[in-house]
Amino acid sequence: MTYRKKLIEVSLPLEAINRESAREKSIRHGHPSTLHLWWSRKPLATCRAVLFASLVDDPGEYLEGAAAEEERQRLFNLIEELVKWENTGNERVINAARLEIARSVARQKGMTLADGIAPEQVNTFLAEHAPPVLDPFAGGGSIPLEAQRLGLKACAGDLNPVAVLINKALIEIPPRFANMPPVNPEARSRIGGDVSFKGVTGLAEDIRYYGRMVRDMAYEKICHLYPKVKVPPEYGGGEANVIAWLWARTVKCPNPACGAQMPLTSKFWLSKRKGNEAWVEPVMNNNVSPLEISFKVKTGKGKPKDGTVNRRGATCICCGTPVPFDHIRAEGRAGRMSAQLMAVVAEGQRGRVYLAPTREQVKIAAAAKPGWEPESDLPHNPRDFKTPNYGMTTFSDLFTPRQLDALTTFSGLVNQIRQLVEHDALEAGMPNGQTSLNKGGTGAKAYAEAISVYLALAVDKLADRGSSICSWDVGYVKIRNTFARQAIPMNWDFAEGNPFSESTGNWLSCVNWVAEAVAAVPATRGGEVRMGEASSYTGGPAWAIISTDPPYYDNIGYADLADFFYVWLKQVLKDIYPELFRTMLTPKNEELVATPYRFGGSREEAKKHFERGLQKAFQQICKIAEQGYPVTVYYAFKQAEDGGEDVASENGGRVVASTGWETMLTGLVTAGFQITGTWPMRTELSNRPVAAGTNALASSIVLVCRPRPADAPVATRRELLSALKKQLPPALRKLQRSAIAPVDLAQSAIGPGMAVFTSYSKVLEADGAPMTVRTALALINQVLDEYMAEQEGEYDSDTRWAVAWFEQYGMAAGPYGDAETLSKAKNTSVGGLAQSGILIARAGQVQLLAREDYQSDWDPAADRRLTVWEAVQHLILTLEKHGEDAAARLLKRLGPLSDPARDLAYRLYSICDRKGWAGEALAYNSLVVAWPRLLELAARIPDQPVQGQLFLDYKV
Ligand SMILES: C[S@@+](CC[C@H](N)C(=O)[O-])C[C@H]1O[C@@H](n2cnc3c(N)ncnc32)[C@H](O)[C@@H]1O
Repeated sequence: MTYRKKLIEVSLPLEAINRESAREKSIRHGHPSTLHLWWSRKPLATCRAVLFASLVDDPGEYLEGAAAEEERQRLFNLIEELVKWENTGNERVINAARLEIARSVARQKGMTLADGIAPEQVNTFLAEHAPPVLDPFAGGGSIPLEAQRLGLKACAGDLNPVAVLINKALIEIPPRFANMPPVNPEARSRIGGDVSFKGVTGLAEDIRYYGRMVRDMAYEKICHLYPKVKVPPEYGGGEANVIAWLWARTVKCPNPACGAQMPLTSKFWLSKRKGNEAWVEPVMNNNVSPLEISFKVKTGKGKPKDGTVNRRGATCICCGTPVPFDHIRAEGRAGRMSAQLMAVVAEGQRGRVYLAPTREQVKIAAAAKPGWEPESDLPHNPRDFKTPNYGMTTFSDLFTPRQLDALTTFSGLVNQIRQLVEHDALEAGMPNGQTSLNKGGTGAKAYAEAISVYLALAVDKLADRGSSICSWDVGYVKIRNTFARQAIPMNWDFAEGNPFSESTGNWLSCVNWVAEAVAAVPATRGGEVRMGEASSYTGGPAWAIISTDPPYYDNIGYADLADFFYVWLKQVLKDIYPELFRTMLTPKNEELVATPYRFGGSREEAKKHFERGLQKAFQQICKIAEQGYPVTVYYAFKQAEDGGEDVASENGGRVVASTGWETMLTGLVTAGFQITGTWPMRTELSNRPVAAGTNALASSIVLVCRPRPADAPVATRRELLSALKKQLPPALRKLQRSAIAPVDLAQSAIGPGMAVFTSYSKVLEADGAPMTVRTALALINQVLDEYMAEQEGEYDSDTRWAVAWFEQYGMAAGPYGDAETLSKAKNTSVGGLAQSGILIARAGQVQLLAREDYQSDWDPAADRRLTVWEAVQHLILTLEKHGEDAAARLLKRLGPLSDPARDLAYRLYSICDRKGWAGEALAYNSLVVAWPRLLELAARIPDQPVQGQLFLDYKV
């Protein structure tokens, strides 16, 4: 089969993809992330663009020169539309993307598509001819979902049953019930014979309806645990629903003279909202021994006491004794940790009302008698699970009795109403198929099971908002979820919510979030989801386009975290998906994660397990990867990974080379892949709270690979270097022309560099040993640095001097003598440089002119000694002070000086990056990022007749 390069192997509109991916992180309504939590989901925009560009031919494969470039631009424009969140359900844009994919599939098969082919025919063509897309590490399902949206058959696999269920809920179940009206009696009487339901809005409506039914039934059963509270007249009087009960854990003070049950709380604040401040004030009851503490609520001006626990330990609020964590741990482990109610938050008519606790409230909370509780032990995972240190060792320990009661009630009712849903479905005319959902059923029984699946996901949402790990957010005045971090931390004060209130985390809002996510899935073509190890993915398609996002070394302990949800899902779904829920907890042994605690504390063993597993998975991927299409693999790296280090190239540049990154590259290469591209993507939210500061994922790199030919040659180090020097510069020029941000250039350069390295079966060092990936990365970086330095040939002498000076002194002053020596080497003079207006020389010192001191009305036409250096500084200044239009006008006036100016911005960025000058680096990066827009604006400005004259003075 002839291999046609796909767009992703040549170029991408990275900036637009990254912009939309970053934006998507703040989008909630209709986003699959609201269906169920999964950690480190990839943005849909990234996945959509990566899939599209992996399927569509690069125009260079069928057109030449300018025509290819023009066509590429057209495809870029389409991608820019495609990645916008607003276009997720836009038929025009999605159909246009499907048509492009179909064209490339047809080209691959030697077929042609008829002109003016209708969208339905495109869909049929894709169904018949396009290969399926497989993601064997599917997690939260972003990649399979986007494959389905693009009209392809999506296959997903994951080891974890919770992830498998999420994928089923996104791509497998909805298409079976697409374009059907809701079955609930209320809707039936409303819609009559109308069957024009598009997509899965009918299913979503039923999820809401039966969710409401479950709520009403649950209320009847357990409303006594959630009594309303009396609101004081100053807050409007009457009665109000409780939003949250705020508790502090307590242990006995170790001071024998005190012995009080001391409250442990990180804060006494209730609300820090401006104008609505409220806090709790502890009051000692001196008349009893040991001392007892009660709480009053204060509002208005003032400030609460500091909390009683901080990072160093606790303090007894009664006697002031410092109490070490050891004591708290010992008390917890001995089962003597308790909790005291500090305040009650209610839903007043005019907003939140904060009330002091009452005995009655405490008594009611203690009256809860859960019928069942998840008694399984929490995983032994000292990094992510902190509560076992304090005696909270089982899943049920993470919940109060009332929370357990609510969760078991809701999950029991979800089970209970299944028969009723089936009955309603039959009444609505659904076929009386008895095939279960698990076996591909599409009848009434399967439909009722599907409703159970979605409501079970809502139970999980309730659990996430309803454990004693949830804290009270005093800024947003609402409950924070359990997984505010990718971990279960120990917390001292916690917020217990009310599933029947109107506030965050109530049952109906959980149901609505699920329904909203369901309503937005494409549900076009059938999807296929399997549970299992990626390395032995069987039973799926024989060949598939693979796009996948494997685990990142030791970043996230998915299986441990997912158990929190698994125990609740199992309650509802063990009969519907027996093979997913047959184990006590989720499978751990085969999970690809390099966590030493699974290997008796051995880092080495953990590393081996991960490397071996990933290797096997890549080998399997290599076997089933559809020839003719690249495999895309996501790698999310941390800015500072544990055990990672920067590798210095011989002339001081840096590349990211951490254990995880190298393992990934080595795994791919050893499995027989050649790497043909690396694209840095902004896939992770940087300001997210992260576990112990270790999991801060900044970004991902998408690695584009294809199988290495069996007859790939062996090379020496010298041969590799000379091939890099030949092949890397044109690739880098292409990247720069596409205005790739300077911050991304080094990462993107790895792609073409690794393409050279991995085109050999082996590269041998002088001693005959095969070269490591790490060394190859260092060489690639070295060539990148040299390329940057060589671009200096484009500049005038003054600019060459300024770059060299900048590299040594930055914007600080340096000795006049040095400046003069350097000026000789660069064929200029200090006097001349001063005349160009780029430096100031005084008192035996020389300093580059600070950007702010450049003349604001600079006119390049009138500058008798024009330099690229000042062009760059003026562009940045104009952009910062006067915006894009003014900068575009200046760019236009720069004419042929503009290309060298852009290259200089790259060069200066790389110097700043190496030297750690973050502020300056940002200025150059911003200029390059704005470049395409400036060019676009500049192109709209009519040419000036004087233009030709302007550059007579500019000499290289
Ligand atoms: C980085 S996540 C995928 C995230 C996903 N792309 C998303 O957007 O949500 C990696 C996934 O690999 C799964 N996993 C770990 N070990 C596995 C194995 N041996 N086989 C298959 N899946 C595995 C984890 O359960 C996790 O869901």
